[in-house]
Amino acid sequence: MSAVTLSGISKSYGAQRVLDSVDLHVPDGSLTAVLGPSGCGKTTLLRIVAGFVRSEAGTVSLGDRVVESPGTALAAEKRGVGYVPQEGALFPHLDVAANILYGLPRGRRSKTRLAELLDLAELPHDVARRSPHELSGGQQQRVALARALAPAPRVILLDEPFSSLDAGLRVSAGRAVRRVLRHAGATALLVTHDQGEALSLADQVAVMRAGRVVQVDSPTALYAHPVDPETATFIGGATVVSGQVRGGVALTSLGDLTVRAEDGPARVLVRPEQVRLVELAEAGVHGTVTEVSFYGAQVVVHLDLADGTPVTARGSSAHTPESGEKVGLLVEGAVVAYPESSQ
Ligand SMILES: Nc1ncnc2c1ncn2[C@@H]1O[C@H](COP(=O)(O)OP(=O)(O)O)[C@@H](O)[C@H]1O
Ligand SMILES: [Mg+2]
Repeated sequence: MSAVTLSGISKSYGAQRVLDSVDLHVPDGSLTAVLGPSGCGKTTLLRIVAGFVRSEAGTVSLGDRVVESPGTALAAEKRGVGYVPQEGALFPHLDVAANILYGLPRGRRSKTRLAELLDLAELPHDVARRSPHELSGGQQQRVALARALAPAPRVILLDEPFSSLDAGLRVSAGRAVRRVLRHAGATALLVTHDQGEALSLADQVAVMRAGRVVQVDSPTALYAHPVDPETATFIGGATVVSGQVRGGVALTSLGDLTVRAEDGPARVLVRPEQVRLVELAEAGVHGTVTEVSFYGAQVVVHLDLADGTPVTARGSSAHTPESGEKVGLLVEGAVVAYPESSQ
């Protein structure tokens, strides 16, 4: 095991700055998700840590060893880093056993090690002689992970490991991969564009935007206190309204909301689960339902306030309003405010 520390990492392709002074610390033995939209530089970042791409500035340290700096670069195979590329990249013509053992030097490709790795990756031993295409997507993912874990790397890098799986499989595959990583004791860096995946799996989430890391936090802290409205909207449903903060209260079109912020004009973040729909007479703020999305246990309701402000509410489907209905709105709990001048 070892921590991964990136400091001031920059990289350009031609005139395009793909990574712009990225700082990130991945604690020993933790699982950190790098979350960002497509094209923001996630894969490039992973490939620099792996040693497949050189950075132009900054350093990468594994434990207390600098493996990448402007003057030096330790060869990829000497870094003790396992890499699971985006599409898993199993060899289609090799069986599962050969795929997994490919990660080891010839002299260490034993039946015992294979059995250990199958167990570690929660794969039944009878898949060893099968071809990759005879496995489910989730099993293929775990074979790719077992191959990367074969030489017992201190650090493991996963590039969008669940992107090729059906939505229904992703949650269970994600939990399985997390168990495997915990069991292996490796420090893991997992790249994804999926907010739910990052929040549900990782110990720590690093949000990337246009080549920069904009926030690093625990999933709960990130969701509760996003660094700016753009990050807030990216990592969950959000209604952002303008308002005036005065003495711990934000005056907005959604009512007077409790907030911890300096006085002055602000943009105010309200999460959909904070918006409760009530009888008209019970609330000073009213809205008209424009769209209802039913998800079984939960329902997401889109509304317009009288002044046209769109608001999203999420709650139990036990109380599902109709499109066109007028309802009262109450905002529960404290909200987050961003001073207007800082934007
Ligand atoms: N080898 C390369 N040559 C030129 N441009 C590249 C190369 N690799 C990545 N890029 C560009 O760098 C940007 C970031 O790419 P990438 O790191 O793959 O982002 P992500 O994984 O977040 O989708 C993109 O605009 C991409 O086109
Ligand atoms: Mg990518």
